[in-house]
Amino acid sequence: MDIAQIRDQMPGLQFGVYLNTGGIGQSPVCVNKAMAEGYQQMLSGIMSPADQYSAMERAASEMPARIAGFFGADAGEIALTMSTGEGYGMVLGGLSWQPGDEVIITNEEHPVPLQAAEGLADRVGAVVKVVEIDQDKDVFLHRLEDIITPRTRMFCFSHVTTDTGNRLPAREICALARSRGILTLWDGCQAVGQFPVDLHDMGCDFYATNCYKWMLAPMGTGFLYVRKDAQQVLKPLRRPHAPDGTARQYETGTPSSMLYQGLEASLDFMDGIGGPQAIAEEAGRKAESLRTRFDAIPGVRVISSRCADTRTGIVAFAVEGMEGNEVSEALRNRWQITQRATYINKPTGVRISVAFYTSDVELDTLVEAVTTLAGEMN
Ligand SMILES: Cc1ncc(COP(=O)(O)O)c(C=O)c1O
Repeated sequence: MDIAQIRDQMPGLQFGVYLNTGGIGQSPVCVNKAMAEGYQQMLSGIMSPADQYSAMERAASEMPARIAGFFGADAGEIALTMSTGEGYGMVLGGLSWQPGDEVIITNEEHPVPLQAAEGLADRVGAVVKVVEIDQDKDVFLHRLEDIITPRTRMFCFSHVTTDTGNRLPAREICALARSRGILTLWDGCQAVGQFPVDLHDMGCDFYATNCYKWMLAPMGTGFLYVRKDAQQVLKPLRRPHAPDGTARQYETGTPSSMLYQGLEASLDFMDGIGGPQAIAEEAGRKAESLRTRFDAIPGVRVISSRCADTRTGIVAFAVEGMEGNEVSEALRNRWQITQRATYINKPTGVRISVAFYTSDVELDTLVEAVTTLAGEMN
């Protein structure tokens, strides 16, 4: 992979050191161009409104197949959404619930899925139970199994957690759920684009994500996967005007074809540089080297997993004697390094997103900065 050449295509990388793909990914120019051309066509009067409308409808209706192909699903299982939260709303709002039904989440959910589960508790009297993340996948699976009861209806988990980047053993969790008659809803937004995700192989019922992080696509793009069988139990939030027996019946408004042209360009781009497996290998090698370099700095501790099954490109670390936000601010203000502090669990640290396009120079700058900060504390 020619990283220098790839970086040249990402205009957002010219501003200091960028290590926050888990916040917002850097779109290559082909993505920006595809979107801009879409808007240009719409606004410049080149096309009649009628032609515009059919072009929009065609673009939006072709996207589910394109997304499905990238994620091991069928076209009829993909609904276009604007965000992860929208997908969560469609699923939690479209199932029927009884008071006392239990939903299990992890102790490291992002506010979007967390608040969706809490909203369900407020609306229907569901009970939200929390299972603690563990870097050892077997420990996590045992913990999960221990809190299942006959009232457990659903697991709502991040595929990769937002703060420490812990990857959950998704296949095993889905198999456990299936064996107990429990549904699974996944938040995929820190997973898609980091490594290959095959939804049929994973065996989940519902998978919601945005595409503006590791997928490098525009904000406002996302999708909800609804497994074919699960479409029997999930009701659309509004009566579909043209039910076509696909997951598009769950869409709640008109998707923006311009934004999806951007997503299509990002899928082409990722395929063009070798696809998700090559991307995962490139980022994985860099993340592993960063963890090792952090280990060598006195007073610095890697918080994220280093187990082969649960580690990812998200590397959270702490500096002894400093809160995460103090370290984060110093890195931003003194070295122009974009990242963010962790905030969900204590002790806090800093989340570094190592992407395939992260450069060696960026990681060198980070390691030097962290060494300086840790040295100043001693
Ligand atoms: C795990 C996780 N879920 C959800 C979100 C945001 O969701 P949405 O697409 O609804 O903005 C983020 C954003 O940082 C996230 O990291």
